[in-house]
Amino acid sequence: MRSPRLLEIDRQDPAALRVELLRDLAAFPAVVAPKYFYDALGSSLFAAITRLPEYYPTRTEAAIFTRHIDEIAAQLPSGLTLVDIGAGNCEKAARLLVPFKVRSYVAVDISVDFLGDSLARLQLQHPELPILGVGTDFSRRLLLPAEAGDGERLLFYPGSSIGNFAPAQALDFLRQLHQAAQGGGLLIGVDLLKPVAVLEAAYDDPLGVTAAFNRNLLLHLNHLIGSDFALADWRHVAFFDAPQSRIEMHLEARRSVKVHWPGGQRAFVAGERIHTENSYKWRAEDFTAFLGDAGFSGIRCWTDERGWFAVFLGQAQRS
Ligand code: AVI
Repeated sequence: MRSPRLLEIDRQDPAALRVELLRDLAAFPAVVAPKYFYDALGSSLFAAITRLPEYYPTRTEAAIFTRHIDEIAAQLPSGLTLVDIGAGNCEKAARLLVPFKVRSYVAVDISVDFLGDSLARLQLQHPELPILGVGTDFSRRLLLPAEAGDGERLLFYPGSSIGNFAPAQALDFLRQLHQAAQGGGLLIGVDLLKPVAVLEAAYDDPLGVTAAFNRNLLLHLNHLIGSDFALADWRHVAFFDAPQSRIEMHLEARRSVKVHWPGGQRAFVAGERIHTENSYKWRAEDFTAFLGDAGFSGIRCWTDERGWFAVFLGQAQRS
């Protein structure tokens, strides 16, 4: 049996990360990049979100794959390398390995620590599959190591994580995916516009799991920068901004508070917010055009009966 290879690449200097975080916390309004949701507890809370009745994206996307897997597989050459961007527990990609006749699997995530156990489990199910885990902050830029091979690649970016980028950044990121997929393609999941009540319930569930996911960011910050955010001072706020076609998530100060960290502090007045995430919702026709702008061709789209979520496949012709 083979063993997965694990690599950490393009690591950002922790001092530079700290400077960036403190700059964003000092801004008006304060912002924190959504990548900071995903410490160990945050990743578990996100996994719990995907099982909530109100959070439709994960199960809707899975149903699209179940229903159309043969048709999607028929568009692909066999023997490709599946490159799973933001792989996490690798469960979504695991369902594609056999139907897509994948020759090798590359899992990319922000930290290689999150990948080790998932890849070891996957290797047990596919003992002869070459598996590579790459730890890199792909939200800054996507670099793949030479070990990822130069065969035909299918880049896989499910879950509508593209929605967490503003359109200009999303276009830039899709162009990087196009570059990395030369001669292969991109399979991407995208959340679509739908009634506001459905969207808002998905990001503010009655059990409070999304609120815990959002507020856990403060515990992660306390760990990263030595700040003294008190959870009791902050509440979760999520709403749909129709003109921007996005769900916004914020943490709102319940009262006036002062937050300290080594070498600095910041006062927040009651009601002041820290902007933690945007989740853009697309129209299928706009996203098709957007993929074209990023260089993809031969675009195909599969959706569910309600038209709530879409999976797109685009070819990246070698230039
Ligand atoms: C990871 N990303 C696609 C999720 C989303 O729906 O934007 C993150 C999330 N935030 C709150 N709930 C889920």
